[in-house]
Amino acid sequence: MTDFEVATVRKDFPIFDRPQSDGRPLVYLDSASSSQKPRAVLDAMEHYYETTHANVHRGVYSIAEEATRLMEEARGKLAAFVGARSSREIVFAKNGTECLNLVANAWGRANLRAGDAVLLTEIEHHANLVPWLMLKDQLGIELRYIPVGPDGHLDLTDLDRLIDGVRLLGVTAMSNVLGTLTPVRRLADAAHAAGAVVVVDGAQYAPHLVTDVGALGADFFAFTGHKLLGPTGIGVLWGREELLDAMPPFLGGGEMIRDVRLDGFTPNELPWKFEAGTPPIAETIGLGAAVDYLQGLGMEAVRAHEVGLTAYAMRTLTARHGTDIKVFGPSEPAERGGVLSFAFKDVHPHDISQVLDQVGVCVRAGHHCAKPLMRRLGVAATARASFYVYNDEADVDALSDALDATSDLFC
Ligand SMILES: Cc1ncc(COP(=O)(O)O)c(C=O)c1O
Repeated sequence: MTDFEVATVRKDFPIFDRPQSDGRPLVYLDSASSSQKPRAVLDAMEHYYETTHANVHRGVYSIAEEATRLMEEARGKLAAFVGARSSREIVFAKNGTECLNLVANAWGRANLRAGDAVLLTEIEHHANLVPWLMLKDQLGIELRYIPVGPDGHLDLTDLDRLIDGVRLLGVTAMSNVLGTLTPVRRLADAAHAAGAVVVVDGAQYAPHLVTDVGALGADFFAFTGHKLLGPTGIGVLWGREELLDAMPPFLGGGEMIRDVRLDGFTPNELPWKFEAGTPPIAETIGLGAAVDYLQGLGMEAVRAHEVGLTAYAMRTLTARHGTDIKVFGPSEPAERGGVLSFAFKDVHPHDISQVLDQVGVCVRAGHHCAKPLMRRLGVAATARASFYVYNDEADVDALSDALDATSDLFC
Protein backbone atom coordinates (compact mmCIF):
# COMPACT_ATOMS: atom_id res chain seq x y z
CA MET A 1 0.00 0.00 0.00
CA THR A 2 2.91 2.29 0.68
CA ASP A 3 3.87 4.56 -2.17
CA PHE A 4 7.03 5.71 -0.43
CA GLU A 5 9.93 3.78 1.02
CA VAL A 6 10.15 4.20 4.77
CA ALA A 7 13.90 3.56 4.63
CA THR A 8 14.25 6.52 2.25
CA VAL A 9 11.99 8.70 4.37
CA ARG A 10 13.99 7.91 7.51
CA LYS A 11 17.13 9.24 5.84
CA ASP A 12 15.43 12.65 5.71
CA PHE A 13 15.12 12.76 9.52
CA PRO A 14 18.47 13.53 11.20
CA ILE A 15 17.28 12.27 14.57
CA PHE A 16 17.46 8.69 13.31
CA ASP A 17 21.22 9.14 12.87
CA ARG A 18 21.56 9.81 16.58
CA PRO A 19 23.65 7.04 18.07
CA GLN A 20 21.85 5.21 20.85
CA SER A 21 23.92 4.27 23.89
CA ASP A 22 23.70 0.56 23.03
CA GLY A 23 23.92 0.96 19.26
CA ARG A 24 20.26 0.04 18.66
CA PRO A 25 18.23 2.20 16.29
CA LEU A 26 15.85 4.75 17.77
CA VAL A 27 12.30 3.39 17.65
CA TYR A 28 10.18 6.49 17.89
CA LEU A 29 6.54 5.62 18.54
CA ASP A 30 5.28 8.86 20.02
CA SER A 31 4.35 10.99 17.03
CA ALA A 32 0.83 11.59 18.38
CA SER A 33 2.58 13.58 21.05
CA SER A 34 5.05 15.29 18.72
CA SER A 35 6.50 14.23 15.39
CA GLN A 36 10.14 14.26 14.35
CA LYS A 37 11.35 16.87 11.84
CA PRO A 38 12.76 16.28 8.36
CA ARG A 39 15.95 18.02 7.26
CA ALA A 40 13.89 20.19 4.87
CA VAL A 41 12.08 21.80 7.82
CA LEU A 42 15.27 22.35 9.80
CA ASP A 43 17.00 23.78 6.74
CA ALA A 44 14.15 26.16 5.91
CA MET A 45 14.22 27.59 9.43
CA GLU A 46 17.98 27.81 9.58
CA HIS A 47 18.17 29.41 6.15
CA TYR A 48 15.59 31.98 7.19
CA TYR A 49 17.51 32.90 10.34
CA GLU A 50 20.84 32.95 8.54
CA THR A 51 19.77 34.99 5.52
CA THR A 52 16.45 36.72 5.96
CA HIS A 53 15.54 37.37 9.56
CA ALA A 54 13.72 40.62 10.23
CA ASN A 55 10.32 41.34 11.70
CA VAL A 56 7.40 40.90 9.33
CA HIS A 57 4.70 43.33 8.17
CA ARG A 58 6.75 46.26 9.52
CA GLY A 59 9.98 47.00 7.69
CA VAL A 60 10.15 48.34 4.16
CA TYR A 61 13.73 47.24 3.65
CA SER A 62 14.39 44.18 1.55
CA ILE A 63 15.02 41.44 4.12
CA ALA A 64 11.92 42.52 6.07
CA GLU A 65 9.90 42.32 2.87
CA GLU A 66 11.47 38.96 2.09
CA ALA A 67 10.61 37.64 5.57
CA THR A 68 7.02 38.82 5.14
CA ARG A 69 6.84 37.19 1.73
CA LEU A 70 8.16 33.87 3.09
CA MET A 71 5.70 33.90 5.95
CA GLU A 72 2.72 34.74 3.75
CA GLU A 73 3.81 32.10 1.22
CA ALA A 74 3.69 29.57 4.04
CA ARG A 75 0.19 30.76 4.91
CA GLY A 76 -0.81 30.03 1.32
CA LYS A 77 0.62 26.51 1.58
CA LEU A 78 -1.36 25.89 4.75
CA ALA A 79 -4.51 27.21 3.09
CA ALA A 80 -4.07 24.78 0.18
CA PHE A 81 -3.22 21.94 2.59
CA VAL A 82 -6.62 22.13 4.32
CA GLY A 83 -8.69 23.23 1.31
CA ALA A 84 -9.31 26.80 2.51
CA ARG A 85 -10.92 29.21 0.08
CA SER A 86 -8.33 31.87 0.83
CA SER A 87 -5.26 32.60 2.97
CA ARG A 88 -7.41 35.10 4.86
CA GLU A 89 -8.97 32.08 6.54
CA ILE A 90 -5.64 30.87 8.01
CA VAL A 91 -4.70 32.27 11.41
CA PHE A 92 -1.42 31.41 13.11
CA ALA A 93 -1.17 30.97 16.86
CA LYS A 94 1.35 29.31 19.13
CA ASN A 95 -0.22 25.83 19.13
CA GLY A 96 -3.48 23.96 18.63
CA THR A 97 -4.53 24.72 22.18
CA GLU A 98 -4.30 28.46 21.61
CA CYS A 99 -6.36 28.10 18.41
CA LEU A 100 -9.19 26.43 20.33
CA ASN A 101 -8.94 29.06 23.07
CA LEU A 102 -9.19 31.69 20.36
CA VAL A 103 -12.50 30.25 19.17
CA ALA A 104 -13.85 29.86 22.71
CA ASN A 105 -12.88 33.39 23.67
CA ALA A 106 -13.46 35.37 20.49
CA TRP A 107 -16.47 33.54 19.07
CA GLY A 108 -17.73 32.15 22.36
CA ARG A 109 -17.75 35.35 24.37
CA ALA A 110 -19.35 37.29 21.54
CA ASN A 111 -22.06 34.73 20.86
CA LEU A 112 -22.80 32.67 23.99
CA ARG A 113 -24.98 33.69 26.91
CA ALA A 114 -25.87 32.01 30.21
CA GLY A 115 -27.90 28.89 29.55
CA ASP A 116 -26.69 28.43 25.94
CA ALA A 117 -25.68 24.85 25.20
CA VAL A 118 -22.36 23.67 23.77
CA LEU A 119 -22.07 20.05 22.68
CA LEU A 120 -18.72 18.28 23.04
CA THR A 121 -17.72 14.62 23.15
CA GLU A 122 -16.31 12.43 25.89
CA ILE A 123 -13.18 11.75 23.85
CA GLU A 124 -11.96 15.35 23.58
CA HIS A 125 -8.42 16.34 24.47
CA HIS A 126 -8.27 18.84 27.35
CA ALA A 127 -7.51 21.50 24.71
CA ASN A 128 -11.10 21.19 23.46
CA LEU A 129 -12.60 20.75 26.90
CA VAL A 130 -11.03 23.19 29.33
CA PRO A 131 -11.68 26.38 27.28
CA TRP A 132 -15.39 25.46 27.26
CA LEU A 133 -15.34 24.50 30.94
CA MET A 134 -13.88 27.95 31.60
CA LEU A 135 -16.77 29.54 29.70
CA LYS A 136 -19.16 27.39 31.71
CA ASP A 137 -17.71 28.89 34.91
CA GLN A 138 -17.50 32.41 33.53
CA LEU A 139 -20.66 32.72 31.41
CA GLY A 140 -22.88 29.98 32.78
CA ILE A 141 -23.17 28.05 29.51
CA GLU A 142 -24.42 24.46 29.58
CA LEU A 143 -22.10 21.68 28.39
CA ARG A 144 -23.42 18.44 26.92
CA TYR A 145 -21.37 15.44 25.83
CA ILE A 146 -21.73 12.79 23.15
CA PRO A 147 -20.74 9.57 24.91
CA VAL A 148 -18.20 7.07 23.66
CA GLY A 149 -19.35 3.47 23.19
CA PRO A 150 -17.48 0.34 24.25
CA ASP A 151 -16.17 -0.05 20.67
CA GLY A 152 -14.36 3.31 20.88
CA HIS A 153 -16.80 5.02 18.49
CA LEU A 154 -19.00 7.91 19.48
CA ASP A 155 -22.42 6.66 20.52
CA LEU A 156 -24.88 8.71 18.46
CA THR A 157 -28.03 7.04 19.80
CA ASP A 158 -29.14 10.22 21.59
CA LEU A 159 -27.74 12.69 19.08
CA ASP A 160 -31.11 14.27 18.23
CA ARG A 161 -31.80 15.07 21.87
CA LEU A 162 -28.25 16.18 22.63
CA ILE A 163 -27.96 18.48 19.64
CA ASP A 164 -31.34 20.10 20.01
CA GLY A 165 -30.85 23.83 20.60
CA VAL A 166 -27.04 23.81 20.82
CA ARG A 167 -25.13 26.91 19.72
CA LEU A 168 -21.82 25.17 19.07
CA LEU A 169 -20.51 21.65 18.49
CA GLY A 170 -16.87 20.91 19.34
CA VAL A 171 -15.50 17.58 18.16
CA THR A 172 -12.14 15.99 17.58
CA ALA A 173 -11.71 14.53 14.10
CA MET A 174 -9.44 11.85 15.49
CA SER A 175 -8.97 10.79 19.10
CA ASN A 176 -5.43 11.08 20.45
CA VAL A 177 -6.15 8.15 22.78
CA LEU A 178 -8.35 5.72 20.85
CA GLY A 179 -7.38 6.71 17.33
CA THR A 180 -11.10 6.86 16.54
CA LEU A 181 -11.97 8.75 13.38
CA THR A 182 -15.21 10.50 14.24
CA PRO A 183 -18.11 11.07 11.81
CA VAL A 184 -17.38 14.78 11.54
CA ARG A 185 -19.50 15.39 8.45
CA ARG A 186 -22.56 13.69 9.88
CA LEU A 187 -22.19 15.59 13.15
CA ALA A 188 -21.56 18.87 11.34
CA ASP A 189 -24.70 18.44 9.22
CA ALA A 190 -26.76 17.73 12.34
CA ALA A 191 -25.19 20.71 14.13
CA HIS A 192 -25.84 23.05 11.21
CA ALA A 193 -29.44 21.86 10.99
CA ALA A 194 -29.74 22.82 14.68
CA GLY A 195 -28.25 26.25 13.90
CA ALA A 196 -24.89 25.55 15.60
CA VAL A 197 -21.35 26.43 14.64
CA VAL A 198 -18.89 23.51 14.27
CA VAL A 199 -15.39 23.55 15.76
CA VAL A 200 -13.19 20.63 14.76
CA ASP A 201 -10.04 19.73 16.66
CA GLY A 202 -7.84 18.49 13.83
CA ALA A 203 -4.60 18.14 15.81
CA GLN A 204 -4.40 14.39 15.19
CA TYR A 205 -6.22 14.36 11.87
CA ALA A 206 -4.44 16.94 9.73
CA PRO A 207 -0.99 15.29 9.98
CA HIS A 208 -2.28 11.93 8.80
CA LEU A 209 -5.22 12.28 6.40
CA VAL A 210 -6.17 14.44 3.45
CA THR A 211 -7.89 17.45 5.03
CA ASP A 212 -10.70 19.24 3.26
CA VAL A 213 -12.39 21.60 5.69
CA GLY A 214 -15.31 22.10 3.30
CA ALA A 215 -15.96 18.38 2.90
CA LEU A 216 -15.76 17.92 6.68
CA GLY A 217 -18.43 20.59 7.12
CA ALA A 218 -16.34 22.48 9.67
CA ASP A 219 -16.67 26.17 10.53
CA PHE A 220 -13.39 26.17 12.46
CA PHE A 221 -10.56 23.63 12.20
CA ALA A 222 -7.60 23.80 14.58
CA PHE A 223 -4.31 21.94 14.35
CA THR A 224 -0.76 22.15 15.56
CA GLY A 225 2.52 22.28 13.65
CA HIS A 226 4.73 20.06 15.77
CA LYS A 227 2.62 16.94 15.17
CA LEU A 228 2.79 17.56 11.41
CA LEU A 229 6.57 17.36 10.93
CA GLY A 230 6.80 21.08 11.69
CA PRO A 231 8.38 22.93 14.60
CA THR A 232 6.90 23.61 18.01
CA GLY A 233 5.46 27.05 18.68
CA ILE A 234 3.03 27.19 15.76
CA GLY A 235 -0.65 26.33 15.60
CA VAL A 236 -3.08 26.88 12.75
CA LEU A 237 -6.71 27.88 12.92
CA TRP A 238 -8.78 27.72 9.77
CA GLY A 239 -12.06 29.56 10.11
CA ARG A 240 -14.82 30.41 7.66
CA GLU A 241 -14.12 33.93 6.52
CA GLU A 242 -17.60 35.27 7.39
CA LEU A 243 -17.27 33.97 10.94
CA LEU A 244 -13.73 35.24 11.45
CA ASP A 245 -14.75 38.60 10.01
CA ALA A 246 -17.63 38.96 12.44
CA MET A 247 -15.61 37.95 15.50
CA PRO A 248 -13.85 40.39 17.80
CA PRO A 249 -10.07 39.95 18.19
CA PHE A 250 -8.73 37.51 20.78
CA LEU A 251 -5.45 39.07 21.97
CA GLY A 252 -4.67 42.77 21.70
CA GLY A 253 -1.41 44.52 20.82
CA GLY A 254 0.73 45.27 17.79
CA GLU A 255 0.05 43.79 14.33
CA MET A 256 -3.66 43.14 15.04
CA ILE A 257 -4.73 46.77 14.65
CA ARG A 258 -5.29 49.16 11.79
CA ASP A 259 -5.50 52.21 14.04
CA VAL A 260 -5.16 52.93 17.74
CA ARG A 261 -6.40 56.06 19.51
CA LEU A 262 -6.41 56.80 23.20
CA ASP A 263 -10.12 56.08 23.28
CA GLY A 264 -10.24 52.98 21.09
CA PHE A 265 -8.84 50.94 18.24
CA THR A 266 -9.76 49.61 14.84
CA PRO A 267 -8.77 45.98 14.26
CA ASN A 268 -6.66 44.89 11.31
CA GLU A 269 -8.15 42.91 8.46
CA LEU A 270 -8.08 39.10 8.32
CA PRO A 271 -6.11 37.15 9.22
CA TRP A 272 -3.82 39.60 11.08
CA LYS A 273 -6.69 40.72 13.30
CA PHE A 274 -6.06 37.53 15.25
CA GLU A 275 -2.25 37.67 15.25
CA ALA A 276 -1.26 40.07 18.00
CA GLY A 277 2.46 40.72 18.47
CA THR A 278 5.43 39.38 16.54
CA PRO A 279 4.30 36.08 15.03
CA PRO A 280 6.27 32.80 15.01
CA ILE A 281 7.96 33.68 11.70
CA ALA A 282 10.60 30.95 11.46
CA GLU A 283 8.08 28.40 12.74
CA THR A 284 5.58 29.38 10.07
CA ILE A 285 8.24 29.01 7.38
CA GLY A 286 9.26 25.65 8.87
CA LEU A 287 5.66 24.49 8.87
CA GLY A 288 5.35 25.52 5.23
CA ALA A 289 8.35 23.29 4.48
CA ALA A 290 6.69 20.46 6.45
CA VAL A 291 3.58 20.77 4.32
CA ASP A 292 5.72 20.67 1.16
CA TYR A 293 7.40 17.53 2.46
CA LEU A 294 4.09 15.80 3.24
CA GLN A 295 2.61 16.84 -0.10
CA GLY A 296 5.71 15.34 -1.71
CA LEU A 297 4.90 12.00 -0.10
CA GLY A 298 1.20 12.47 -0.81
CA MET A 299 -1.32 12.52 2.02
CA GLU A 300 -3.19 9.57 0.53
CA ALA A 301 0.03 7.55 0.66
CA VAL A 302 0.65 8.73 4.23
CA ARG A 303 -2.79 7.50 5.26
CA ALA A 304 -2.42 4.20 3.38
CA HIS A 305 0.94 3.59 5.03
CA GLU A 306 -0.51 4.19 8.48
CA VAL A 307 -3.57 2.01 7.95
CA GLY A 308 -1.26 -0.81 6.82
CA LEU A 309 1.06 -0.36 9.79
CA THR A 310 -1.83 -0.13 12.26
CA ALA A 311 -3.33 -3.33 10.85
CA TYR A 312 0.06 -5.04 11.17
CA ALA A 313 0.48 -3.82 14.73
CA MET A 314 -3.00 -4.88 15.85
CA ARG A 315 -2.59 -8.27 14.21
CA THR A 316 0.90 -9.08 15.45
CA LEU A 317 0.58 -7.63 18.96
CA THR A 318 -2.53 -9.72 19.55
CA ALA A 319 -1.07 -12.83 17.91
CA ARG A 320 2.03 -12.59 20.04
CA HIS A 321 0.69 -11.35 23.37
CA GLY A 322 -2.87 -12.70 23.25
CA THR A 323 -5.04 -11.58 26.13
CA ASP A 324 -2.03 -10.03 27.91
CA ILE A 325 -2.51 -6.97 25.71
CA LYS A 326 -5.66 -4.90 25.40
CA VAL A 327 -5.70 -2.30 22.66
CA PHE A 328 -8.30 0.41 23.22
CA GLY A 329 -10.43 1.88 20.46
CA PRO A 330 -11.99 0.66 17.21
CA SER A 331 -10.87 -2.80 16.09
CA GLU A 332 -11.01 -1.94 12.37
CA PRO A 333 -7.79 -0.18 11.20
CA ALA A 334 -9.65 1.72 8.48
CA GLU A 335 -11.79 3.38 11.16
CA ARG A 336 -8.90 4.69 13.18
CA GLY A 337 -5.56 6.43 12.96
CA GLY A 338 -2.17 5.02 13.85
CA VAL A 339 -2.56 5.57 17.58
CA LEU A 340 -2.59 2.47 19.77
CA SER A 341 -3.34 2.96 23.44
CA PHE A 342 -2.92 -0.26 25.28
CA ALA A 343 -2.83 -2.02 28.64
CA PHE A 344 -0.33 -4.83 29.10
CA LYS A 345 -0.97 -7.41 31.82
CA ASP A 346 -1.27 -5.32 34.95
CA VAL A 347 2.01 -3.48 34.41
CA HIS A 348 1.69 0.24 35.05
CA PRO A 349 1.97 2.26 31.81
CA HIS A 350 4.84 4.30 33.25
CA ASP A 351 6.77 1.11 33.98
CA ILE A 352 6.08 -0.11 30.44
CA SER A 353 7.37 3.15 29.01
CA GLN A 354 10.52 3.05 31.16
CA VAL A 355 11.39 -0.55 30.30
CA LEU A 356 10.76 0.10 26.61
CA ASP A 357 13.03 3.14 26.79
CA GLN A 358 15.91 0.93 27.88
CA VAL A 359 15.83 -0.71 24.46
CA GLY A 360 15.32 2.54 22.57
CA VAL A 361 11.54 2.23 22.11
CA CYS A 362 9.75 5.51 22.85
CA VAL A 363 6.07 5.26 23.78
CA ARG A 364 4.00 7.69 25.78
CA ALA A 365 2.45 6.77 29.13
CA GLY A 366 -0.15 8.78 30.97
CA HIS A 367 -3.64 10.21 30.66
CA HIS A 368 -2.80 11.84 27.31
CA CYS A 369 -4.60 15.04 28.34
CA ALA A 370 -7.92 13.21 28.19
CA LYS A 371 -8.78 12.59 31.83
CA PRO A 372 -12.55 12.27 31.36
CA LEU A 373 -11.93 9.60 28.72
CA MET A 374 -9.52 7.75 31.05
CA ARG A 375 -12.28 7.68 33.67
CA ARG A 376 -14.73 6.37 31.09
CA LEU A 377 -12.24 3.61 30.12
CA GLY A 378 -11.81 2.78 33.80
CA VAL A 379 -8.05 3.36 33.80
CA ALA A 380 -5.78 6.03 35.27
CA ALA A 381 -3.41 5.92 32.31
CA THR A 382 -2.49 3.93 29.21
CA ALA A 383 0.69 3.26 27.29
CA ARG A 384 0.40 4.64 23.76
CA ALA A 385 2.33 3.82 20.60
CA SER A 386 1.72 6.05 17.61
CA PHE A 387 3.01 5.88 14.05
CA TYR A 388 4.07 8.25 11.31
CA VAL A 389 5.77 8.21 7.94
CA TYR A 390 9.15 7.09 9.34
CA ASN A 391 7.83 4.01 11.17
CA ASP A 392 7.73 0.54 9.73
CA GLU A 393 6.99 -3.05 10.71
CA ALA A 394 10.43 -3.43 12.32
CA ASP A 395 9.42 -0.70 14.79
CA VAL A 396 6.27 -2.63 15.67
CA ASP A 397 8.33 -5.80 16.10
CA ALA A 398 10.74 -3.92 18.38
CA LEU A 399 7.76 -2.85 20.47
CA SER A 400 6.54 -6.43 20.66
CA ASP A 401 10.00 -7.71 21.67
CA ALA A 402 10.29 -5.01 24.29
CA LEU A 403 6.93 -5.99 25.76
CA ASP A 404 8.36 -9.47 26.35
CA ALA A 405 11.17 -7.84 28.32
CA THR A 406 8.55 -5.93 30.33
CA SER A 407 6.84 -9.21 31.05
CA ASP A 408 10.10 -10.79 32.26
CA LEU A 409 10.73 -7.89 34.60
CA PHE A 410 7.32 -7.31 36.11
CA CYS A 411 5.30 -10.52 35.87
C1 LIG B 1 -6.46 15.82 19.88
C2 LIG B 1 -5.55 16.92 20.33
N1 LIG B 1 -6.01 18.16 20.39
C3 LIG B 1 -5.25 19.19 20.76
C4 LIG B 1 -3.94 19.00 21.12
C5 LIG B 1 -3.15 20.18 21.56
O1 LIG B 1 -2.03 20.41 20.78
P1 LIG B 1 -0.89 21.39 21.35
O2 LIG B 1 -0.39 20.75 22.62
O3 LIG B 1 0.12 21.45 20.30
O4 LIG B 1 -1.56 22.68 21.64
C6 LIG B 1 -3.40 17.72 21.09
C7 LIG B 1 -2.01 17.47 21.51
O5 LIG B 1 -1.69 16.45 22.10
C8 LIG B 1 -4.22 16.65 20.67
O6 LIG B 1 -3.76 15.39 20.61
